Amino acid sequence: MPDPIRDADPTIAAAVESERERQESTLGMIASENHVSEAVLTAQGTALTNKYAEGYPGARYYGGCEHVDEVERTAIERAKSLWGADHVNVQPHSGTQANMGVYFAALEPGETILSLDLTHGGHLSHGHHVNFSGQLYEVEQYEVDPKTGYIDYDALAERARAVDPAMIVSGSSAYPREFDWERIGEIADAVDAFHLADIAHITGLVAAGVHSSPAEHADFVTGSTHKTIRSGRGGIIMCDEAYADDVDSAVFPGSQGGPLMHNVAGKAVGFGEALEPAFEEYASRTVENASALAAVLRDRGLSLVSGGTDKHLVLVDLRESHPDLTGDDAEAALSDVGIVLNKNTVPGETRSPFVTSGIRIGTSALTTRGFGPEEIETVAHHIADVLDAPDDDATLERVSESVDDLCESFPVYG
Ligand SMILES: Cc1ncc(COP(=O)(O)O)c(C=O)c1O
Repeated sequence: MPDPIRDADPTIAAAVESERERQESTLGMIASENHVSEAVLTAQGTALTNKYAEGYPGARYYGGCEHVDEVERTAIERAKSLWGADHVNVQPHSGTQANMGVYFAALEPGETILSLDLTHGGHLSHGHHVNFSGQLYEVEQYEVDPKTGYIDYDALAERARAVDPAMIVSGSSAYPREFDWERIGEIADAVDAFHLADIAHITGLVAAGVHSSPAEHADFVTGSTHKTIRSGRGGIIMCDEAYADDVDSAVFPGSQGGPLMHNVAGKAVGFGEALEPAFEEYASRTVENASALAAVLRDRGLSLVSGGTDKHLVLVDLRESHPDLTGDDAEAALSDVGIVLNKNTVPGETRSPFVTSGIRIGTSALTTRGFGPEEIETVAHHIADVLDAPDDDATLERVSESVDDLCESFPVYG
């Protein structure tokens, strides 16, 4: 087949091909990753990348926008159907940009955000000091109960009364349980704060109805479009009509320039796929697979934050079962046998974020490949085997061979 990249740039063509091969030949278990369809991939690599379209459909600062208008309107309408939102902005380049759009729309610099601590499952864009959000706003944090691993809502309510935030942020990168959106909405109302629900990780699960939706209980909902929903890299903001103008102008011209229309096309195609009945099956299988993963890991003596999961990921705290094995060591040992996941901080973390005491494991991408609970249980045993014997060559070789077989049986793109 002709390959225009190879003809123009063999270096990049080789790297792209190697990455595609890496994805085919390893088991991707990074909870924030997935595999988009060929249709989404193709939509992202179109002539739409050439088009400037500052503004919004029907009100652009450039001519020639009639076709990209149709793309963006389609993405918006599909998103409204998927998430039941009044107003949708599909232009954020990423989940972080989506959060920035909401902060710029709703807050003044120096106002207070109350959000989940990073080591308890939160995200950098929820006010960490290395991120713009921690630099522009005052940040107060809430935590999970150290005994249960669940968010302590009474403590959160008390903290909200004490610090009087302008916004409470719910949503997480590594919290394995559902948020009680209603309770957080009530807590925010009681202190007259906005409630931003960041559903970056669970966008697809919420769209499919296999995870509760914050729509009724939050003023703003943000998300990523490439995690549990497979519509290519990007972000999205949803809100009531009352905030529409503020959100739109906070995204453009407030914090971004021209939208990436090729990515908006990817979102539209991926959202269209998610409206098909098969997507609901995919999302519920993803959660079923995560429960199967949790059950085996627990049986194998591993400690899971909160004891299990309600969604697509589990967070393993290695401190009790494997006190000498860091998250970094575990990530490296598993990567060597073709199981790719990430080290992660855990509640009460004492090691640095580059080392950590935990690993986060997700099932979204393997479910896309066709894995069911049976194959996931096999992988879960492999993970436990490697953690128990990270230096045992026979174990590593056996697991590696099984990973190769699984990859061959469940191709990503074939
Ligand atoms: C809760 C949460 N919000 C925001 C983001 C940021 O998304 P992005 O990487 O698209 O900026 C992430 C990324 O993992 C996340 O987990």
